[in-house]
Amino acid sequence: MAILYRFLYKFCVILIIGGNMTIIDIINKKRLNKELTREEIEFAINGYLDGSVKDYQMSSLLMAIVINGMNERETIDLTDIMLKSGDIMDLSEIDGIIVDKHSTGGVGDKVTLVLAPLLASFGIKIAKMSGRGLGHTGGTIDKLESIKGFNVNLDNKEFIKQVNDIGVAIVSQTGNLVPADKKIYALRDVTGTVESMPLIASSIMSKKLASGADIIIIDVKVGNGALIKNIEDARSLANLMVKIGKAYRKPTICLLTNMDEPLGHAIGNALEVKEAMDTLQGMGPNDLLEVVMTLSSIIIGAVKKIPNNEAKQLLFKQLNNGKAYDKFKEFVKKQGGNLDDLKISDKVFSIKSDKSGYINKIDTLRLGEIAKSIGAGRNTLEDKIDYEVGIVLSKKVGDYVEKDEEILKVYLNKKDVAIVDLLECFTIDEELKNVPKLILDIIK
Ligand code: URA
Repeated sequence: MAILYRFLYKFCVILIIGGNMTIIDIINKKRLNKELTREEIEFAINGYLDGSVKDYQMSSLLMAIVINGMNERETIDLTDIMLKSGDIMDLSEIDGIIVDKHSTGGVGDKVTLVLAPLLASFGIKIAKMSGRGLGHTGGTIDKLESIKGFNVNLDNKEFIKQVNDIGVAIVSQTGNLVPADKKIYALRDVTGTVESMPLIASSIMSKKLASGADIIIIDVKVGNGALIKNIEDARSLANLMVKIGKAYRKPTICLLTNMDEPLGHAIGNALEVKEAMDTLQGMGPNDLLEVVMTLSSIIIGAVKKIPNNEAKQLLFKQLNNGKAYDKFKEFVKKQGGNLDDLKISDKVFSIKSDKSGYINKIDTLRLGEIAKSIGAGRNTLEDKIDYEVGIVLSKKVGDYVEKDEEILKVYLNKKDVAIVDLLECFTIDEELKNVPKLILDIIK
């Protein structure tokens, strides 16, 4: 279907403009900060997919977009063209309203592992395609694969059946979902062209729209451990994504949350699954619980029209009566996972603070990079992850730490880390400065 669409498109371009459009003209136009037409964007994207537009030409166009931006119309057209470059999931066989939750990526972000079974235990359908981690941020699929036997590759029929049967399924993104984004994102990653609001918004929204859910909820992470570093950029990204959602009549809600420190205590795949399980049994860290509860109550409000405070009370009930945790166990079992076999390295080192004071800042990006360097993450999609390793913070921003008191634990296997590198991630002062808010804004 997508190939036929590209063929027909090319045929029409040749008929209408006599085949005179060139990628150089399109690059030059954007370099001069002019608005691209839908046909020009289509020419570039489809040409890149069929190989007639080369890597170096697409890189050049992407850099012109990073520098000069795109207006709303161009961004919506770009999203639409990417969305139509591959398969679009048809989830119409799932009964009820389907929710997809996405995060723009952070360190220690295990929200989906808690939120999905919690909402499913409440009767809300979660049909989710997730990604793998790349760079310093983790991915839900890797976390789930740290559970022995967990199958992230259900086919469409199995995926739909599982959501109908138990209310939740999480799978790895299928190969032909938005291939244009797959190819362009890989190029952006190595050409310094990731950080652009229209490129990020169209990349995320094309995938979300292609995944077929009725309601899209996006956790936009903001801070030194996130892709988006400041609140103004986060708001403009969120506004753009909400507008794209509106253009498709898909309610899209963005929650802006702090990523100036890892979420929860655990960083690393099996360690994060364990923390998610603790949270589902009412023993999780407050910040993780707050993000989960805020997102979940927004979703319940959107699906069941229940006011926020009432929704939160009902959700706490699901945690306290064990139903949310039971749903997690059912979901893991259904996808072949064995929770009795969740392995965490026993080579554990307690790292002590080298001074006393208040923790005012955690260099979250650096901590994520260290976790990656000991094996918890990957540099390229081909790298192998060590699911058993990671870091668990004993102290967070705002806490007081004594000299020689434990600040974190590190779980190692095959690779080592210098203690000084870990300690340098913490800014410790005599005075407590401002502790940042966790929930920064809701945009819908
Ligand atoms: N996540 C995506 O899927 N795309 C981007 O461009 C950035 C983050």
